[in-house]
Amino acid sequence: MSDPDGPGQIADRLAGVALPRHVAIIMDGNGRWAQRHGRPRHAGHRAGVTAVRSVVEACGRLGLEALTLFAFSSENWRRPAGEVRVLMELFRTTLDQELHRLHEQGVRLRFIGDRTPLEPALQRRLDDAEALTAGNGGLELVIATNYGGRWEMAAAARRLAAAAARGEIDPEAIDEQAIQGALCLPGLCDPDLFIRTGGEQRLSNFLIWQLAYAELYFTDTPWPDFGAEQLARAIEAYSGRERRFGGVQPSVLGAAGGA
Ligand code: IPE
Ligand code: IPE
Ligand code: MG
Repeated sequence: MSDPDGPGQIADRLAGVALPRHVAIIMDGNGRWAQRHGRPRHAGHRAGVTAVRSVVEACGRLGLEALTLFAFSSENWRRPAGEVRVLMELFRTTLDQELHRLHEQGVRLRFIGDRTPLEPALQRRLDDAEALTAGNGGLELVIATNYGGRWEMAAAARRLAAAAARGEIDPEAIDEQAIQGALCLPGLCDPDLFIRTGGEQRLSNFLIWQLAYAELYFTDTPWPDFGAEQLARAIEAYSGRERRFGGVQPSVLGAAGGA
C-alpha cells in the first residue's frame, strides 16, 4: 500500500503552492531521538538515513532545483572519536548504497566542505559520485561535509587575495559578486527555505553567506522522524511568507499613498 504522506503524494498536496527553488536543511536531533528510544547515538544517525532518502525523493518529485543537506560540520570533529567514525562510515556506506538510485533519478550530486582530512578512499568516492552524476539535469543534491560557513568564507578570501597578488584582479573591484564567485558553488541560487529539525534555533555555521535572505523554519521534530509530510508542512509555511528583501510590498505602498 502506498504511504498517503509519502514522497509520491507530495506533488499533489502542494499543487498550486509557491515552491522554493532551493531548500537547505540542518538535519539535527539524531542523538536525542536515539536517547528517547533508549538506544545509542549511532542508532539515531542510522535512522536519519531513511529521512534523507525520503526528503531527497520528495524534492525530486516536486521538481525543486536544489537541496543542500548538512551532514557533518567542521566543528563535529569535537565529538567522541567513536561517533565521528560511525558518521564517516555511515556516509560512505550510504553513498555506496544510494548512488546508483540517485543517478537513475537524474540527481546531480555535489559535495561542499574541506575534503582534505577525509579518508582518501572517501575522497575518491566523492570525486567519482560527482563525475558520474555531473551531466544529470534533475535535483542538485549538495551534501555539506566537513563544512563550515566561516571555513568557506576564509577559503574564498584566500582565493581572491591570491588572484589579487597575481595581478588578476584589482582589490578595489572585490564586491559581493566577486565573493559569491569565490564560494564553493558560485552558480547555485541561494536557499529560499532553511529548515532545522531537532528543536535548536541556530545556524551552527551553515551557509552563513548564502542564507542572508532565506526564510527560516524550525521544527522540534528530530531528523529521524522527518519526511515528506514534514517537508510539505515547511513548504506550506514558506509559501505563506512575504519576502521583501528590504523593499516594500506594492500593496502596502498603494495603501500608504506611496510616501
Ligand atoms: C545531527 O544530529 C547529526 C550530526 C550533527 C552529524 P545530532 O547528532 O547533532 O543529534 P543531537 O543534536 O545530539 O540530538
Ligand atoms: C549541526 O548540528 C551540524 C549538522 C547537523 C551536521 P550540531 O548538532 O552539530 O549543532 P550544534 O552543536 O547543536 O550547534
Ligand atoms: Mg545536534
